[in-house]
Amino acid sequence: MTDELARLRESCVVCTACDLSQRRRNVVFGEGDPHSPLVLVGEGPGDQEDATGRPFVGRAGKLLDQAIGDAGLSRDLVYITNTVKCRAADWSTGKPQNRPPTELESSTCRQWLLPQLQAIGPQVILCIGAPSAKNLIRKNFAITKERGLFFPSEYARTIMATLHPAYILRQMNISGDGGYGLLVADILKAWDAAVRLAEKHRPGN
Ligand code: URA
Ligand code: SF4
Repeated sequence: MTDELARLRESCVVCTACDLSQRRRNVVFGEGDPHSPLVLVGEGPGDQEDATGRPFVGRAGKLLDQAIGDAGLSRDLVYITNTVKCRAADWSTGKPQNRPPTELESSTCRQWLLPQLQAIGPQVILCIGAPSAKNLIRKNFAITKERGLFFPSEYARTIMATLHPAYILRQMNISGDGGYGLLVADILKAWDAAVRLAEKHRPGN
């Protein structure tokens, strides 16, 4: 299945299926352990990700790395990708402002995300933020009410969503930890379930 992932990446990096292809510098396909029981699906590349072609390497990415570390894990244990593979930004003022992907952009990019998930075959998917949860769990997913809960999924044995680190960074300016503790707890809960499910479904068990 890793061959399949390599093939998908090759076709994905030249994709022009939606308008986000017009201003991107790099397609951010995803990275990490393709055999991991846990896949993290974010929203989409920001400036740093667009510049480097790697997911979650900017400010939000640093906070995600910290949360993964505080959950007792490391980034190389999981696979990390995004709902859309090209940066979504508003360019109308001349200075790009990141924005969430539109429903059309997210649904167009499913032509990469779904086969990517199928090639990896994770036990658990952890959606990072509302756009990812709305794309993979349910259109009207309510992130603050439904984060941390497991849902049935076509794309893995189970799926959960958590708060986006960019949202947490904004909340931290208002009060307390901004939900950081919840992010750490959700990552740990998703990982524990992923390991348990992998063991349970190991051939021979
Ligand atoms: N935010 C995301 O959702 N994904 C990234 O890759 C970076 C920031
Ligand atoms: Fe293609 Fe996805 Fe990039 Fe749109 S965001 S151009 S669908 S890879």
